Amino acid sequence: MSPLIPYGASCLVTGGAGFIGCALAPRLLEYFDQLLVLDNLHPQVHPHGALPAALPEKVHFIQGDVTDRQAWDTLLAEHNPALVVHLAAETGTGQSLTAAHRHAEVNVSGLACMLDAMVRHNKRPQRIVLTSSRAVYGEGAWQGERGIVYPGQRSKAQLEQGQWDFPGLSPLPFAAQHTQPHPSSVYGVTKLAQEQLLAVWGEAMAVETAILRLQNVYGPGQSLANPYTGVVSTFAMLAAAHKSIPVYEDGQITRDFVFIDDVVSALCALIAYPAVPRHPLDVGSGQAVTIAEVAARIARRYGAPAPHITGAFRHGDVRHAACELSPTMAALDWRPQVFLEEGLERFCRWVDQQRKVAF
Ligand SMILES: NC(=O)c1ccc[n+]([C@@H]2O[C@H](COP(=O)([O-])OP(=O)(O)OC[C@H]3O[C@@H](n4cnc5c(N)ncnc54)[C@H](O)[C@@H]3O)[C@@H](O)[C@H]2O)c1
Repeated sequence: MSPLIPYGASCLVTGGAGFIGCALAPRLLEYFDQLLVLDNLHPQVHPHGALPAALPEKVHFIQGDVTDRQAWDTLLAEHNPALVVHLAAETGTGQSLTAAHRHAEVNVSGLACMLDAMVRHNKRPQRIVLTSSRAVYGEGAWQGERGIVYPGQRSKAQLEQGQWDFPGLSPLPFAAQHTQPHPSSVYGVTKLAQEQLLAVWGEAMAVETAILRLQNVYGPGQSLANPYTGVVSTFAMLAAAHKSIPVYEDGQITRDFVFIDDVVSALCALIAYPAVPRHPLDVGSGQAVTIAEVAARIARRYGAPAPHITGAFRHGDVRHAACELSPTMAALDWRPQVFLEEGLERFCRWVDQQRKVAF
């Protein structure tokens, strides 16, 4: 991050006790005198209700919910953050279908609650950074014989028949500049609503807003207990217990796994960027890999039995997700440094340490 960062002394990270927040905090402390974290220690992410050990002691931690007007009033009565990084969210893609209200309330109303509180207290930060998601694209754009099409959400009937792909079409990588968002999960809808809400509010209030659309983030610090997010951690825990990893659909779902350090460096680049980019920026590794391949690599790492293909499916899961990185690399002078082989090994070594502590 540039030491010329033009922000004031204080930075607020909502949801800062989570995976990305804990990895980002040490970097932010290099540049801000005060780092505030507002987090409700969601039981699904923090099952013991304790602050994560990875959160630096210097952080000023405030336990509170982003949907709680009173929590915002207390925070903003005392503090005036120059930069806000909004990470707090309900993040379960599959879970969001049956917990739609909770996802909408936290992700959409929670953000609106923060923005209203800023107006009430007349405390407008210089910049608000939002971590959005590749989920806003849904199935994204596919190449057909007659051009680009948006096939939309895969239907229940289609999935029940095991028709995983869209016949005659091939997937294209997501790119914020030209892929239209078509979310196919409740979670994706709420992340898109967050983006739009923030952009409209920021424009009217003369607050800079910047959005990163993250692909699947993995790495040390990821929750090993949350069953609703993080396929890499689920796979690692199964393989470490010498179980065969169950793989959904036909194993050919693809994802773009981006290592946590690369997400932190992209966020830092965006935070230090002198003028915010007009469009959201995609952050991934730029490489698509099948879920079967990831499961096989992790199983080999632990000497576990080979993964097995189940043919099961989850509503809201898209078939292919990867992004085109060149616009982000050009805009932020950033590039991913840690690719899958190294990233998985670093992650598995960390999982091994956690298992030693637990047993
Ligand atoms: N991790 C990924 O793969 C990924 C991918 C795309 C986008 N994102 C986005 O990045 C952000 C951070 O993700 P993460 O992986 O660190 O998630 P995480 O679940 O590890 O952390 C989220 C944090 O937010 C807190 N939180 C949840 N609800 C809250 C509420 N109502 N009020 C206050 N705090 C609340 C939780 O306690 C947790 O500490 C989210 O906005 C998510 O949508 C993450």
